[in-house]
Amino acid sequence: MLVEKNVPLQSSNTFGIVAKALSLARIQSEADIADVLQDPALQAMPKFVLGGGSNIELTGDVRPLVLKVEIMGKRLAGETPKAWIVEAGAGENWHELVAWTLHNGFSGLENLALIPGTVGASPVQNIGAYGVELQDRFDSLDAVDLTTGQAFTLNAAQCAFGYRDSVFKHASTPTPTGAPGFGLAGKAFITRVRFLLPKAWKPVLGYADIEKKMLQRKVAMPSALQIYEWICEIRQAKLPDPKVIGNAGSFFKNPTVSPEQCEDIIQRDPKIVHYQLADGSVKLAAGWLIDACGWKGKSIGNAGVYEKQALVLVNRGGAVQPVTGGEVMTLAKAIQTSVYERFGLMLEPEPVVV
Ligand code: EPU
Repeated sequence: MLVEKNVPLQSSNTFGIVAKALSLARIQSEADIADVLQDPALQAMPKFVLGGGSNIELTGDVRPLVLKVEIMGKRLAGETPKAWIVEAGAGENWHELVAWTLHNGFSGLENLALIPGTVGASPVQNIGAYGVELQDRFDSLDAVDLTTGQAFTLNAAQCAFGYRDSVFKHASTPTPTGAPGFGLAGKAFITRVRFLLPKAWKPVLGYADIEKKMLQRKVAMPSALQIYEWICEIRQAKLPDPKVIGNAGSFFKNPTVSPEQCEDIIQRDPKIVHYQLADGSVKLAAGWLIDACGWKGKSIGNAGVYEKQALVLVNRGGAVQPVTGGEVMTLAKAIQTSVYERFGLMLEPEPVVV
């Protein structure tokens, strides 16, 4: 197994932060993982799995052994009476998979078009947009346990999906009773993911931006390809393209509060954007909260708040004078403090801080 030393990571994280992997192994198959785990020196090292780098915030050089996910392949793996099962390698680009499924006649992933990152990262944070979450289209995944080398398969229930959450985001530390923790953070290397794409496809509409497109284009029942194109247009208009302006998508999660807390905030800020959830709690738009605190367009050093969407932090220095992880953290903390002081809510970052 070839381990590369001091590999620059600037082009491997969508923020464009300058940092190095002190050691990096490219994983193109399950056999490459076995090679790493059978090498006594590599086996002992802590490990960090790097996909498309679109949901990480690097704060310095990465000391654990970086396992760069490069397992490729897309295929129709099977079918059930109700759905097609499409399988993709964890290293495939997410958006290219979405386009490939649609061009091959499998609908269902169109609302998730243009989300940056890789297939392997998609279940980790249960990516979601415009009314569809990965868990709605998920069949199962294959992974390898990085401590034992054992391959295993998880179904949706075993992934414990939640809003931008899964078993892969939770630590495996033992519980206070000494029983093993259920989390798989840092423990699993996802190799392949399978998606369940409905044969009797129905569009997922209802989001204001999509409804607006239907009215503008005078289309009452859009096709999957039409929705795909609209989502691409909507995202391109609202969100910065990481190839042009470095960013990691939404930097904070939308917080959930009790109806009483929401009522209290509405008393003070009647315009707050909020959505009623099925369990009675209320989701608040973090972008609105940050915007209301006056952060849109502001910067600290080369870390900025995107002009068109306050939930996205951007690299204002480009590739020449790139933002540092410290600047992003300082800006994120300043935003958290002002939202906390005004609304009494602590925003939770979405990207993994490395
Ligand atoms: N808003 C403001 N000011 C802002 C930003 C937003 O007032 O600066 C308001 C908007 O007007 C809107 C509301 O906040 O009424 C919500 O904004 P938007 O519809 O843009 O969606 P979001 O809640 O900010 C979430 C996801 C996005 C996903 C969109 C569309 C999270 C953390 N983010 O954003 O996901 O694309 O919905 O479904 O849940 C990502 O995770 O990286 C991501 C981009």
